[in-house]
Amino acid sequence: MPPSPADVSPASEDQLLRPRLGLRPWLALLRRAFAFAFWVRFDMASKGSGWPRIRVMRTMSWTEMQYGTKQDYELLGPAFEQHARSNLVDNLCNLLGLLRGPTLGYQCDRYSHSLQSGTRALRNGESIDMVVGALLHDVADGFAPENHSDAAAAVLAPYVDEETHWVIKHHGIFQGYYYFHHLGGDRHARDQYVDSPFYDRCIQFCAEYDQNCFDPSYDALPLEEFRPLMEEVFARPSRVPGVAPAPA
Ligand SMILES: [Fe+2]
Ligand SMILES: [Fe+2]
Repeated sequence: MPPSPADVSPASEDQLLRPRLGLRPWLALLRRAFAFAFWVRFDMASKGSGWPRIRVMRTMSWTEMQYGTKQDYELLGPAFEQHARSNLVDNLCNLLGLLRGPTLGYQCDRYSHSLQSGTRALRNGESIDMVVGALLHDVADGFAPENHSDAAAAVLAPYVDEETHWVIKHHGIFQGYYYFHHLGGDRHARDQYVDSPFYDRCIQFCAEYDQNCFDPSYDALPLEEFRPLMEEVFARPSRVPGVAPAPA
């Protein structure tokens, strides 16, 4: 039997005055906090100058670039540049990590091959450009297998010297000296570049830092050892014009 009104004790005055806070206001507050966290970015890059800088990241009101204003692009350009640069080394390390695993018939995987290449270049006293170039010469294997030399060279082009760029760009065809003829090709295909000032350098690169880097017993350095070199190279001003004009 349902209780009669007389059986229900009346709420005290204190209970009636207390605001009835359910979950909903707290969830709304939490949502706002998350929105604020995404809206405001603590830029720890400025920690050397004292307090972290708080930079407001405004979201554009438009969904088509044609409606952007000069002020919009003056904000978007540097924001992208800062984001891209600060993540570049991590992204490249992750791309190298994609080469872990399959050995594809060789005695070591492509990740180990890359570390061997970088380590041999480093131990041979090569420039920082060439060491980083050696480390990353096959970095595009995972996403541009048909033209991995061009793709790796394109990644390096803004930051390394002309010689390193040329060597990495052409290492695929120069590497063919060691196997093209076994597949019915011309192992001397590299000779079309005999007039290049970097012809001999590319031959040396393949001989000392590529064709011999499939040895699982080689004591290659871990990737962390190359990180400072990568940080230095990829912090340089770009050598190639970007998609946007440089600020006046
Ligand atoms: Fe390669
Ligand atoms: Fe290679």
